Amino acid sequence: MDRVELFDLYTRHVNAGKIAVYERFGLDAVIGERTGIRFRDRFDPNRSWINCHGNGGVFNLGHRHPRVVAAVEGSLAREDIGNHHLPAPGRAVLARRLAATTGGRLPGVVFGVAGGEAVDLALKVARGATGRQQIVSAVGGYHGHTGLAMATGDPEYRDPFGPNLPGFTQVPFDDIDALAAVVTDDTAAVILEPIPATLGMPIPSPGYLVAVQEICRDLGALFLVDEVQTGLGRTGRIWAYEHWDLEPDMVITGKGLSGGVYPISATLMTRSLHSVFDQHPFIHVSTFGGAEPGCAAALAVLDVIEAPGFLDHVAAIGRRLAAGLSGMPFELRRLGMMMGFAFPAPDAGMLAAKLLFDAGVFAVYANNDTSVLQFLPPLTTTEEEADEIIGIVRSVFG
Ligand SMILES: Cc1ncc(COP(=O)(O)O)c(C=O)c1O
Repeated sequence: MDRVELFDLYTRHVNAGKIAVYERFGLDAVIGERTGIRFRDRFDPNRSWINCHGNGGVFNLGHRHPRVVAAVEGSLAREDIGNHHLPAPGRAVLARRLAATTGGRLPGVVFGVAGGEAVDLALKVARGATGRQQIVSAVGGYHGHTGLAMATGDPEYRDPFGPNLPGFTQVPFDDIDALAAVVTDDTAAVILEPIPATLGMPIPSPGYLVAVQEICRDLGALFLVDEVQTGLGRTGRIWAYEHWDLEPDMVITGKGLSGGVYPISATLMTRSLHSVFDQHPFIHVSTFGGAEPGCAAALAVLDVIEAPGFLDHVAAIGRRLAAGLSGMPFELRRLGMMMGFAFPAPDAGMLAAKLLFDAGVFAVYANNDTSVLQFLPPLTTTEEEADEIIGIVRSVFG
């Protein structure tokens, strides 16, 4: 198969609209050989890109991290997905490890395949446990395109598939008065990304998330943090919520938990919330959720990010990138290595993505604020690689 045939097959069977856009803007990459921070073009190995999109954090450890690949290969040598009704040692050990990342505060774990599924489960539990209906989320936030997750999102993603579900309210991010005005004693949960990636990585004001948590506590609503992109070391802590000493009732993780090798997601919750499943153990099922090779991948990911010095490395590379990118024509939004280039012009994030693509760096604009380019280099980026990234970005925008 060559590129023309592939694009033709895609147009006929997968997504004609996508291919039309890629052809219009000359975005013709097809991922071939991939390792570390880089991937090569499948049909022209002389072209390569540094992956600063990373599927929104899936490739936190770069492509095909040897430890994750070895763990999944080890699992596949003796296991398959297993059975979602029966206990599996890998799943149990992973649940214990994930619970430990919250200092034991969130010992209940429900596994899924993708982030949207994990969000759906979180919202089901929130409603089931509180007996309340309303879910509050941020305008421009993004929690997935599945049922309840989609209902938390912006109208452009759900209106075409109406009728919209009742009970969902959106408020502007980082506006505590707006949130206080809508949370009531019928609010089951407030769900937020600590830094909303699809909204262009706005860093919340220092007191915002703490105040959100207080409002939730005062009114008996649950506070859920979606750490699908911010979690697992991206901001220099295992969880971004740690930066503000928050005590969320649930944490949702996905993407990077897979190591980019075998999909897995998880919803972590308090014991009392998890007790919903004591009475109804078979009320929620995910056939592939917590599949055994996925548990092996996730345990290897945790081994890497919990190794001594790893989070310090993330913080140091984040600072190095920030220093190297000073004086550029954009505002650098950043916490650790969670970054956005905020340009002063609308749609400039789109143009920036194209210019960087042509220069050998792959990054994607924020869909809900197209003036921002999302920038998520692998957390494993070395100093030399960081300098290479800085050099390319400066050559494009300097
Ligand atoms: C913050 C956040 N939550 C949830 C999701 C949904 O994850 P998935 O695409 O794996 O369903 C995403 C996906 O981009 C995300 O960025």
